[in-house]
Amino acid sequence: MLGKQVLVIDDEENLRHYLQMVLGEAGYQVGVAVDGVEALEKMQHHTWDIVLCDIRMPRMDGMAFLKEAKAKGLEGTIIMMSAYGTVDTAVEAMKIGAYDYVSKPFNADEIILTIKKAEERERLREENVRLKEEVQRDYDLENIVAKSEAMRKIFDLIKKVARYKSSVLITGESGTGKELVARAIHYNSDRKDKPLISINCGAIPENLLESELFGHVKGAFTDAIRTKKGLFEMANQGTMFLDEIGELPQGLQVKLLRVLQDGEIRRVGDTASFQVDVSLIAATARDLASEVKNGRFREDLYYRLNVLPIHLPPLRERKEDILPLVERFIELYNKKLGLRIKGATKEALERFLQYSWPGNVRELENIIERGMILAEQDTIGLEALPMHVQEGATSTPVPSGLSIKKNARDIEIKLIKEALKKTGANRLRTARILEISHKALLYKLKNYGLENYGKGGEK
Ligand SMILES: Nc1ncnc2c1ncn2[C@@H]1O[C@H](COP(=O)(O)OP(=O)(O)OP(=O)(O)O)[C@@H](O)[C@H]1O
Ligand SMILES: [Mg+2]
Repeated sequence: MLGKQVLVIDDEENLRHYLQMVLGEAGYQVGVAVDGVEALEKMQHHTWDIVLCDIRMPRMDGMAFLKEAKAKGLEGTIIMMSAYGTVDTAVEAMKIGAYDYVSKPFNADEIILTIKKAEERERLREENVRLKEEVQRDYDLENIVAKSEAMRKIFDLIKKVARYKSSVLITGESGTGKELVARAIHYNSDRKDKPLISINCGAIPENLLESELFGHVKGAFTDAIRTKKGLFEMANQGTMFLDEIGELPQGLQVKLLRVLQDGEIRRVGDTASFQVDVSLIAATARDLASEVKNGRFREDLYYRLNVLPIHLPPLRERKEDILPLVERFIELYNKKLGLRIKGATKEALERFLQYSWPGNVRELENIIERGMILAEQDTIGLEALPMHVQEGATSTPVPSGLSIKKNARDIEIKLIKEALKKTGANRLRTARILEISHKALLYKLKNYGLENYGKGGEK
């Protein structure tokens, strides 16, 4: 783990040396500048976590430096060092963006305590930004609806996986809950107080992605006017979530492999690399194994990522989750939208169970939110559902992916049920309507568990 970087700005040589020694012993990496001009120059090249700045200095004094640093938007928490007679100025400095001040003379403990306080504030600030981004949804496992057998298994898997640092690969169709699971893993691990940084690999142009992930040094490319930390560095000791990993360009696949193998990253344009401690979760809706076969995804990276695989089945394959999810979303949006919807009508719920949910849980969530807004009373009825969901059961077949076998089976079941209803479950007439032999019908009824269908025992 890299020590925090402190820049000391003071015209007194003795004090610079003293601070270099004291802070160095306390584990900080210390740089020095003799005045504001030199400090600004050094801050262009490098990002400092903490800046200790004297007030009276030749050339550019502390106040002028502070104004300039703020105007340029330079990173780093600035602490003023005020000598006798400059306390008013120090207070003034805090009004324009200095974090704190210490009065000279100070001893080692005092200055270290001040820096520690500043670090704590910085940590809190970063955490605050993070918490805001999470829009009040916390990621306790209780927030994951898991009624079906398949989801209960995943639920247990999350708890297990969270204990290890090994890479996790989450796969599943769009909207199945991949991001939700990734967050649950982080917040149930012992890294939960450290950052969870996510990035969508498909959302950032290839030429910017590398510097986004690994950072860059000043001058690495035309727009690199100063050194910038990458996301991996920001995720240090925490978790990095790489969404849509299948979109990662080949060149970056090699670099990611290096992070996974050696824990090393190198900023763009830098000659040296350094260590980070990051636990990696990747997600994709693509079939990575076949991407590997096609040569679009590196095999070695695939095996590195796939140490702990979690596959989220589509919603149509775990219908037991549908009604609990409906309940959950109604509760959630009642709070969010200030509504008092009690539930959905029997007809609407039936449609939900029959519909195929190509957009999975996200589609269900959207339809519930929409339905709650459109509901005329305090229940969601059929009329509040989009046409394609209202029709779901009767007119369109249930698409089971692109599998002809599965779809044909679904259609057969539907046609047989229709025919049985029409004939009052008379087997001979049913077979005739379906244009199949009586024997074939009996076989199919048995196969699909429809022997009692239409005789009062339908399911
Ligand atoms: N089991 C679940 N319980 C409660 N909410 C869920 C569950 N699964 C998914 N959701 C919710 O459904 C929405 C979609 O989930 P998420 O964004 O995690 O899906 P995704 O697989 O990452 O989708 P995409 O591939 O499109 O990015 C989110 O609002 C999420 O909170
Ligand atoms: Mg997602």
